[in-house]
Amino acid sequence: MNNTSEAAITVAGVSKRFGDLLALDNVSLSISQGEFFGLLGPNGAGKSTLISALAGLLRVDSGELQIMGADVRREYRHARRNLGVVPQEIVIDPFFTVRQTLQFQSGYFGVKNNEQWIDELLEQLNLTDKQDNNMRQLSGGMKRRVLIAQALVHKPPVLVLDEPTAGVDVELRQSMWRFIRRLHGEGHTIVLTTHYLEEAEQLCDRIGIINQGKIIALESKQDLLARGLGSKLLVRAAHTIETVPLEYQERIVRQQGRELELVLYRDRDSIMEILDRLRATSMQIEHVSVVNDSLEDVFVQMTGNGTGEVS
Ligand SMILES: Nc1ncnc2c1ncn2[C@@H]1O[C@H](COP(=O)(O)OP(=O)(O)OP(=O)(O)O)[C@@H](O)[C@H]1O
Ligand SMILES: [Mg+2]
Repeated sequence: MNNTSEAAITVAGVSKRFGDLLALDNVSLSISQGEFFGLLGPNGAGKSTLISALAGLLRVDSGELQIMGADVRREYRHARRNLGVVPQEIVIDPFFTVRQTLQFQSGYFGVKNNEQWIDELLEQLNLTDKQDNNMRQLSGGMKRRVLIAQALVHKPPVLVLDEPTAGVDVELRQSMWRFIRRLHGEGHTIVLTTHYLEEAEQLCDRIGIINQGKIIALESKQDLLARGLGSKLLVRAAHTIETVPLEYQERIVRQQGRELELVLYRDRDSIMEILDRLRATSMQIEHVSVVNDSLEDVFVQMTGNGTGEVS
């Protein structure tokens, strides 16, 4: 591979075994500088394992990992300085205040005179009021925001967020995304794992799907969405729908009262023809709409799995 210094993250042939379990199975991917990349996959797929390996917290059995061209083992300090990680698990030191936590982290990376940036982080993450509180006095969502500030305190060009919005309320989630979008706009490379697939669909340019330790898709969001079965046809009738023609039975997604939802195969269906056949059953159609597949639909089709979201 030439020009690896161009990539923000390089993962080449990485495998990791926990006993009998192959948690990462020959994973390769490259994320360019400035990308907003979504790493998706059901529970236990290997996302956090890959992130721990990138952060140098976990030794892999084989393969290479680089951050901004620096090998995460051989050039650990260099690689680590270029990376901010927001871990999935909340681990905090309960005896520090919020500001002290950030100052301490800053010191760890040898960044001096960082108060201005710390002020800005506190402000952007709505933590200014809480800066003198002890970490143990914070709610779960607040702790998660401190983890984000902590990941950013040394201004790393690459930011990896492992389910940063788990347990964060809607309003804060939106303000967090505004901030992360801004960082992306300023040139940061962002890697995000989330079980909220609408979030990934809105934010990410390119998506990797990992399932049982293997990358099963790696492409632009548009291409991935285009891989879906197609779209759905939503029909509302003037009366309760009793019968659906036999040839459409197996593509019923939902049939409820006056509404019928059918899978629409993009490349071979004619909507007009379907509507004609429905009308032939003396259905009086009042309203018709077409809904495109969401990332969630494609994800479920590809992994044979729900989002695994626990709420
Ligand atoms: N330290 C460990 N020892 C043994 N097995 C582990 C260890 N860490 C992870 N695993 C296993 O490796 C697999 C991948 O776990 P990982 O945490 O990477 O999944 P994930 O994709 O992050 O899932 P989630 O969406 O639930 O966070 C799981 O089967 C998990 O049980
Ligand atoms: Mg995880």
